[in-house]
Amino acid sequence: MRVLVVGSGGREHALVRKIKESKKVDYIACCPGNGGISYDAECFDVSATDIDGVVKLAKEIKADFVVVAPDDPLVMGMVDALNAEGFATFGPRANAAIIEGSKVFSKELMKKYNIPTAKYNVFDKAEDVINYIKAENEFPTVIKADGLALGKGVIIPETLDEAVAGVKEIMEDKIFGDSGNNVVVEEFLTGPEVSVLAFTDGKCVKPMVTSMDHKRALDGDKGLNTGGMGTVSPNPYYTDEIAEECMNTIFLPTIEAMNKEGRTFKGCLYFGLMLTPKGPKVIEYNCRFGDPETQVVLPRLKTDIMDIFEAINNETLSDLDIEWDDRACTCVIMASGGYPKSYPKGIEINGLTDGQLDGVTVYHAGTKRDGDKLVTSGGRVLGVTALGETIEDALAKSYAGVEKIKFDGAHYRKDIGQKALSALK
Ligand code: AMP
Ligand code: GLY
Repeated sequence: MRVLVVGSGGREHALVRKIKESKKVDYIACCPGNGGISYDAECFDVSATDIDGVVKLAKEIKADFVVVAPDDPLVMGMVDALNAEGFATFGPRANAAIIEGSKVFSKELMKKYNIPTAKYNVFDKAEDVINYIKAENEFPTVIKADGLALGKGVIIPETLDEAVAGVKEIMEDKIFGDSGNNVVVEEFLTGPEVSVLAFTDGKCVKPMVTSMDHKRALDGDKGLNTGGMGTVSPNPYYTDEIAEECMNTIFLPTIEAMNKEGRTFKGCLYFGLMLTPKGPKVIEYNCRFGDPETQVVLPRLKTDIMDIFEAINNETLSDLDIEWDDRACTCVIMASGGYPKSYPKGIEINGLTDGQLDGVTVYHAGTKRDGDKLVTSGGRVLGVTALGETIEDALAKSYAGVEKIKFDGAHYRKDIGQKALSALK
């Protein structure tokens, strides 16, 4: 098979590497890819949001299968366009990707089908939001832009002043564009967070092994929200009992709800969950593999990933047994100085040979090849990943790898996995 992967981050690198292991695959292309991916796949300079460009590329390289990884092209309908041209695909169509593309849609879906989530209200005027928050006078509160916002569309103000400033940025300054036309204000929930990625063909749902993300920029969950600074798998808070409860109250009801709405979801559905004192609740849905969750989940996958993708495409997923490695996996993100705010690009990265390092797998996110050199080209630069018998073993390997990789301004969290380890004590 000839496979095309659309996207350019660490998640896409993890997908490319796993697809490369497939017995069925003899050629992998990626668009646009990145410096590290270019060692594993042929990269083409076509943007991940250029629907016509990707369809054209898929034809040119005679792709047998196209995997669309990022949220924007899915929400924009790239899978629909590829299917219309006869390509087999992995990823939901636009009418199902809306589960991530609109928070208002997903909150209304959960309300209609009694899927547990935070209580909420929707607003389309800044003034109404502020009046509501003033009247409620409960802090922290949670304000979410309706549409896609690079994982940064959620603010959790501790004071009224912070809320006013945040609402102004989202709804008046439009820092996320039209994504901020509507906002959801919701109840602040507490408890450990769990990311569950699940394969679904719309008929059955097969959760993958779980993971825990670390969204804040700094140690101790301080600093700004980021796309994710590191992950560990499994997530020890997620017991078998909780897994069963989530299957019955969240996963199956969501798949059924989407079917009833005429929006059958096929692909990877990401459940961002919070294990609250009142039971597991949905914090968010994503219509795709998480980043950096994928970097710790896919290394544990033993089944041929193309068998899974084909079964989902053919709606025969229930016939397939998916096997997982019992070992733990950890990923520590090395980011550019300044991230998640502005950061320099083009900084030379030292310590890697052909993009890799012995003892770990280095998934590249924001890197570029510049002659013989590798340089930074994004906020999250590398995900230093390792398998180990325990989370502690895997972390020791990931951090030993991080110590050997150098670029000016690099920053990373030193406490990835500590919360997971404390759950085990
Ligand atoms: P999201 O982009 O929706 O995943 O939100 C980013 C982060 O904000 C989540 O990972 C949570 O840590 C936090 N968050 C979102 N919604 C809530 C909520 N209702 N209560 C508490 N924290 C939340
Ligand atoms: N790491 C969170 C996400 O992929 O949305």
